[in-house]
Amino acid sequence: AFNLSQRHLLSLMRHTPEEIRYLIDLSAELKRARRAGTEQPRLQGKQIALIFEKTSTRTRCAFEVAAKDQGAHVTYIDSSSSQMGHKESISDTARVLGRMFDAIEFRGADQITVETLAEYAGVPVFNGLTAEFHPTQMLADVLTMIEHSDKPLHQISYVYLGDARYNMGRSLLMIGAKLGMDVRIAAPKALWPDDGFVEECQAFARDSGARITLTEDALAAVKGVDFVHTDIWVSMGEPAEVWDERIALLRPYRVDAALMTAADNPRVKFMHCLPAYHNQETAVGRQVAARYPEFGDGVEVTEEVFESPASIVFDQAENRLHTIKAVMVASLA
Ligand code: CP
Ligand code: NVA
Repeated sequence: AFNLSQRHLLSLMRHTPEEIRYLIDLSAELKRARRAGTEQPRLQGKQIALIFEKTSTRTRCAFEVAAKDQGAHVTYIDSSSSQMGHKESISDTARVLGRMFDAIEFRGADQITVETLAEYAGVPVFNGLTAEFHPTQMLADVLTMIEHSDKPLHQISYVYLGDARYNMGRSLLMIGAKLGMDVRIAAPKALWPDDGFVEECQAFARDSGARITLTEDALAAVKGVDFVHTDIWVSMGEPAEVWDERIALLRPYRVDAALMTAADNPRVKFMHCLPAYHNQETAVGRQVAARYPEFGDGVEVTEEVFESPASIVFDQAENRLHTIKAVMVASLA
């Protein structure tokens, strides 16, 4: 086995493919044990701090439930009710929490914050999402693709459509490159990841045998894929004004029935990290539809695709629990 004891999870950029596979295998094992009722608590007495500068449903609940399943305690900290950031520096906060907790999860705007916490805390730090990376989501996404495919991992192909400069697009490019998969990014050039990051991913791909494609052609990009991924077009923390620009740029990359058909694969599946704007049951969904009536049945994905049998988004969401549990067990047990 691999020794991930006391390891941070900041981006997965510095994890080897073997370490990533180990975390995914451990997730599957913990998932089976939970379902069979044979899970062994291996984190008894551990104290985990959960810092959420931004809101969350899945990530917070996955950390809380995973910790409790394993016998650990969690403390939820948000920016409005703590000193962090506004009254106390990140490095001071890290050193204080490091004296009390066995590990710290952080979700917020900047990757530098989670890196600074890791530098000063003296305990493992886990990235629960920054603008640049969403590593716990990647473990869940790969586990979900493995579960819904009968191919070996390196033969699996997927496309991500949408804003690829942000956490999900960047992370999906990186993880596929590391694991030797066929990974395609379909977005207007203005929303591609920066050249330096693409270069780093290409270097991973040279080592792993991954096939990387970046293209502006959505229909060509989906041809033959096993999985179609997307994400919201305006991320947390971005100003509402960017909606007009984003709609104009991303209109051709919306996941609708025609796009799924263009995959030309009867087994193609739809994935989304969630939350998703697929109907008018959310305030944002209603606001976009009021301005752009053609998005009344969904923004980045249509209601039809989201609710279709091809959609595996809730399997993906459940896997956040098992993979986050594996991260904590590997690092702290
Ligand atoms: N996918 C994801 O990270 O969901 P939350 O924002 O609800 O945590
Ligand atoms: N790109 C999205 C992902 C949410 C899980 C955001 O950062 O808001």
